[in-house]
Amino acid sequence: MSLYKKIKEVRNSFRADLDSFISDQNDIGPIRIKYLGRKGEIAQLFSELGDVEPNERPEAGKLLNQLKIECTKSFDEKINTNNNAHESNKESHEDLTLPGLTFPLGSLHPIQLVLDEIKDIFKSIGFSIAYGPEIDDDYHNFQALNIPKHHPARDMQDTFFIEDNIVLRTHTSNVQIHLMEEKSPPLKYIVPGRVYRNESISFKSYCLFHQVEGIYVDKNVSFSELKGTIEYFVKRMFGKDVKIRFRPSYFPFTEPSAEVDIWNDERGQWLEILGCGSVDPAVFENVGYDPGIWQGYAFGMGVERIAMLKYKIGDIRHFYQGDVRFLSQF
Ligand code: PHE
Repeated sequence: MSLYKKIKEVRNSFRADLDSFISDQNDIGPIRIKYLGRKGEIAQLFSELGDVEPNERPEAGKLLNQLKIECTKSFDEKINTNNNAHESNKESHEDLTLPGLTFPLGSLHPIQLVLDEIKDIFKSIGFSIAYGPEIDDDYHNFQALNIPKHHPARDMQDTFFIEDNIVLRTHTSNVQIHLMEEKSPPLKYIVPGRVYRNESISFKSYCLFHQVEGIYVDKNVSFSELKGTIEYFVKRMFGKDVKIRFRPSYFPFTEPSAEVDIWNDERGQWLEILGCGSVDPAVFENVGYDPGIWQGYAFGMGVERIAMLKYKIGDIRHFYQGDVRFLSQF
């Protein structure tokens, strides 16, 4: 067979092979090897060039070169269109069996978890829940609670003033006054909420934190009833074996007053979690309750302190940094 005829045949069979190639079922590699490889059919034809009559060789060589260029080009085009087809396949045929994208799951903030628990415990022993203003006047945050202007007890709570007589509440005790102004006794409430203090920030103090206030007013309310209630709460919160102590203290709006500490084994020290006491008769007079008839107790606990003890968190600032790695652990 003449070289010209062979060139024609190789061209035809190359085209046929390339046309019948289906990308998803076959590998295109063998086609390249068969025709364009170093020992492929085109290389074979080049090696036969020596047998051609010398005067025809230039022409035959030219044809062979054309064949090689043509086949290489067709082959590359085929690969390109194949890849493009793959791309557009991906777009038009979505694989519905692939697992979906997952969105990160949120979790409740540890402060919220502790607040929920505190609310549940006090609800179970007859307390209702009330809320009050975070921005309040000096009267409700201080004066009605028996803390007159210029009283040294104001130093206990560094205050953010909004205007002369308007403050960010420094404790939830302002709501004791609002509740008693609005309702007649008896009453029994807890008041969860945010409070603000202009303190220097450290591992144990932040400019904003949470308290839960408690106020119970009725006839014949004793200090030992307060003690019993607090003990019950602390044991439900921290377990039966918790070590707790009442320490005499001073608040202008309670008399007598105490602070409650919990033993922290990690640090090897007592940690204060709340202040409490019997409602001072002067406070009852400010809200128009007759101190000859009504008695009561009040308490205010620090929610962050409780959360830190419960979850063994060493730094109060963690609660306010919004770091998901911290928050998703609870
Ligand atoms: N308001 C006090 C504080 O923030 C706590 C307290 C509340 C003490 C009620 C006695 C009674 O420190």
